[in-house]
Amino acid sequence: MNEQALDFKAWTNDMQARMELALDAHLPTATISPMRLHEAMRYATLGGGKRVRALLAYAAGEFCGAELEKIDIPAASVEIIHAFSLVHDDLPCMDDDDLRRGKPTTHKQYGDALALLVGDALQSLAFQLISQEKLLKSATQKLQMLHILALASGSRGMAGGQAIDIESIGIPLTRAELEHMHIQKTGALIRAAALLGAYSADDPEEEKVKAVDHFAKAIGLAFQVVDDILDAEADTQTLGKTAGKDKLNNKSTYVTILGLSAAKQLASELHANAMAALSFYGREADLLRHLANFITQRSF
Ligand code: IPE
Ligand code: IPE
Ligand code: MG
Ligand code: MG
Ligand code: MG
Repeated sequence: MNEQALDFKAWTNDMQARMELALDAHLPTATISPMRLHEAMRYATLGGGKRVRALLAYAAGEFCGAELEKIDIPAASVEIIHAFSLVHDDLPCMDDDDLRRGKPTTHKQYGDALALLVGDALQSLAFQLISQEKLLKSATQKLQMLHILALASGSRGMAGGQAIDIESIGIPLTRAELEHMHIQKTGALIRAAALLGAYSADDPEEEKVKAVDHFAKAIGLAFQVVDDILDAEADTQTLGKTAGKDKLNNKSTYVTILGLSAAKQLASELHANAMAALSFYGREADLLRHLANFITQRSF
């Protein structure tokens, strides 16, 4: 590894550890009632995951001049919404998965009903945390973040994309429909993560926020394209979730519809688009560039 790659690895480790601490501190402890729900919320959120959304928030925040402490809660809120989406995504009525982040899925461990409530409670917690964060001084700044997160997780974002996903079972989507689904189900929250990071700065430069947004739009779509590729190519052990599920579940994905090589081609085009969004910037955008590389070259 060259020096820059080593620096990025160290930064990633630091930010992942920082996020774990923030999540641990802000999830209700399992010793307060209702204990089993709180325990299951912690089970679903802590001790796993790449924390890509938090990393994006930190990188975009730093790029726009935000202090790290101000990015913690917005980044944690996106990770909490993401954890909720995974709990529901794994339910028997959705993808019916038994393994997540290398351990039994939340419903396998706690039952379907509690898993449903874990998702509900995590979703509320994300909005609660932003609304009560004291480091975000202006009400306008908080409101803007709440609005971005609400849009990204609702029917025009993650939940909407998930609805298209389940409706597409056994009914192959067109390429345009596929892109629309991916932009909503995964791209929207990734874009929100980067924007929340950017808006953690008190007075971010408009041009920088725009660059972050263009970058995140491309890399958010790339993220799900790579997820589809990994589902087809990687093994269960490496992924920490059951490989080959998309084909088994008759899902419309870039791989099942276009094939592996076209999916890989698209991932590299989207990577190039993301990089192009940063072309006016020098070293100050390097964390974002490294993240784009990580997202498209990852093996899990
Ligand atoms: C998996 O997301 C689900 C998708 C939206 C593709 P991640 O690959 O980010 O999952 P974790 O958080 O690292 O487990
Ligand atoms: C999940 O997509 C997207 C959301 C959770 C919103 P997938 O169903 O492909 O995610 P994995 O592969 O189970 O992680
Ligand atoms: Mg799914
Ligand atoms: Mg799934
Ligand atoms: Mg997948």
